[in-house]
Amino acid sequence: MTASLMNGKAVAQAMREEMKQEVQKLQSAGVQPGLAVVIVGEDPASQVYVNSKHKTCLELGYYSEVHRLPEDTTQEHLLELVGTLNAQSNIHGILVQLPLPKHIEEKAIIDAIAVEKDVDGFHPMSVGNMIIGDDSLLPCTPAGVIELLKRYDVEIAGKHAVVIGRSNIVGKPVSLLLQREHATVTMCHSRTANMKELTKQADILVVAIGKANFVDRSFVKPGAVVIDVGVNRLDNGKLAGDVHFDDVSEISSLLTPVPGGVGPLTITMLMQNTLKAAKRIHN
Ligand code: GUN
Repeated sequence: MTASLMNGKAVAQAMREEMKQEVQKLQSAGVQPGLAVVIVGEDPASQVYVNSKHKTCLELGYYSEVHRLPEDTTQEHLLELVGTLNAQSNIHGILVQLPLPKHIEEKAIIDAIAVEKDVDGFHPMSVGNMIIGDDSLLPCTPAGVIELLKRYDVEIAGKHAVVIGRSNIVGKPVSLLLQREHATVTMCHSRTANMKELTKQADILVVAIGKANFVDRSFVKPGAVVIDVGVNRLDNGKLAGDVHFDDVSEISSLLTPVPGGVGPLTITMLMQNTLKAAKRIHN
């Protein structure tokens, strides 16, 4: 079997076109969705992400504010800015780019973001709402994985989904969202014994372990759908996923490439969360 590619870039583009229409409707009702992104320090990868978020906002007709703060910004100053953005009526979503410098406690900052503007879905209240099944703002990458599966008509209900990785940002939430879609979910991680015995049972395998080319065909049941959330920079400068693409593509039915798979969905879901927050705040 040779896998078909799941083209995240094309799905993201289609979703963005749909969102543009919604933004126009909202604007004619006098509301422009607004996103504030805060970055502290000069981390080059974070700079790239932040610029890309700003560019996407402009492309979709959102109001965008980027706050670039120096590395030595105090926690107190950052909390003050979050407080200002919480109160700002033209801002519907707030994202503080992670990682933050070591002298700032990330949890304190995330906790300070108003939950109705928590477009990252990282606030403990958002996480709690997600677990209960309430209609919260969902974390972007996990929500992107579900969106990609749905847009490729992959049946989730009743299937066995196996997730490799248990991070707060991807592994844990994507497991919950798959369960919410009625999959039977197994979570694996770096300490799982006999991991391949479990992954070989997966109809849907989601890999977010942060190790380049970790999953080869020996982990995969023939015909499985494989979603690679990993983004690893190799010594030669190239990007690689957590899945050995060439090897697994010969055995899986659908497979996401890196780049161009899950990645483009992350910012798209951020835009969707901002739109959702704007609609809710103004209703
Ligand atoms: N850094 C890398 N990915 C993310 C993300 O999704 N949200 C935030 N806030 N920071 C990040």
